[in-house]
Amino acid sequence: MASPVILITGALTGIGRATAVAYARAGANVVVSGRHQDRGERLVEELGDLGAQAQFVKADVRFDAEVENLIDRAVERFGRIDVAYNNAGTEGSPGPVTEVTGEAYEATFDTNVRGTLLSLKHEFRVMRRQEGGGSVINASSTYGQMGFPDSTLYVGSKHAIIGITKAAALEGAPHGIRVNVVAPGFTQTAMYERVTGSDAVRGAVNSVLPMHRAGRPEEVAEAVMFLGSDKAAYVTGQTLTLDGGLMAGWPLFPAA
Ligand SMILES: NC(=O)c1ccc[n+]([C@@H]2O[C@H](COP(=O)([O-])OP(=O)(O)OC[C@H]3O[C@@H](n4cnc5c(N)ncnc54)[C@H](OP(=O)(O)O)[C@@H]3O)[C@@H](O)[C@H]2O)c1
Repeated sequence: MASPVILITGALTGIGRATAVAYARAGANVVVSGRHQDRGERLVEELGDLGAQAQFVKADVRFDAEVENLIDRAVERFGRIDVAYNNAGTEGSPGPVTEVTGEAYEATFDTNVRGTLLSLKHEFRVMRRQEGGGSVINASSTYGQMGFPDSTLYVGSKHAIIGITKAAALEGAPHGIRVNVVAPGFTQTAMYERVTGSDAVRGAVNSVLPMHRAGRPEEVAEAVMFLGSDKAAYVTGQTLTLDGGLMAGWPLFPAA
């Protein structure tokens, strides 16, 4: 496809931003979304400098009307949406299960789960009526496939995204819409800095990772671009994990 139209939520930082830049370099038309107008406009300028047609639409994915507006503005500008990357996410309020509150639940699930569902809803609305369908990629995590202490809400929300993806993949398949997950392991972004909190903790994490390093946002962007492309034309309902080997097993005996 000459210039596919890509839509990315939570695109102003980290993995979302790296994916927007990668798609811009590849010549795509890029719709970036987030909650900060000024930063969004600056990103559009940066993507324009890379040669892309780009547009920012302000949207908080927790709110149906804002997601609806995002999708409608994208179609108004570019006529279609070929790839949607539902990247917006939050670590919410990590803490022990004994301290879970309704507010902490909402702080995590409203963005990660409700936001993914609302995005899917409006993306499907467009992709079902356009020729060629489309590709949706949802953002889960290694936290969506295994447990971590003091993270029940985030772990639960990221597991939910994998289940939602499988169900949506079955609905989308007859209409040419593929739905997959990218599941990064620890990746060098602001979220990783916040969750780990210090160089000492990051060093401890690195020491147990099989590759002894966290991933880079650009490495996740490559996986999104693969799932969004025709190279993955027969891939749907799947999770592509980028974790440097974390989930392959426990490196109890250090590799020689
Ligand atoms: N970094 C990792 O180790 C890692 C590992 C596995 C999965 N992930 C997932 O990867 C995705 C990207 O995270 P990241 O690592 O790049 O961290 P990040 O830099 O914190 O990016 C998250 C982005 O989502 C946006 N966002 C949060 N709540 C939103 C909402 N309600 N509506 C719209 N945008 C919202 C944030 O914008 P605001 O400034 O407005 O909050 C931010 O730009 C997330 O889904 C995360 O769970 C990250």
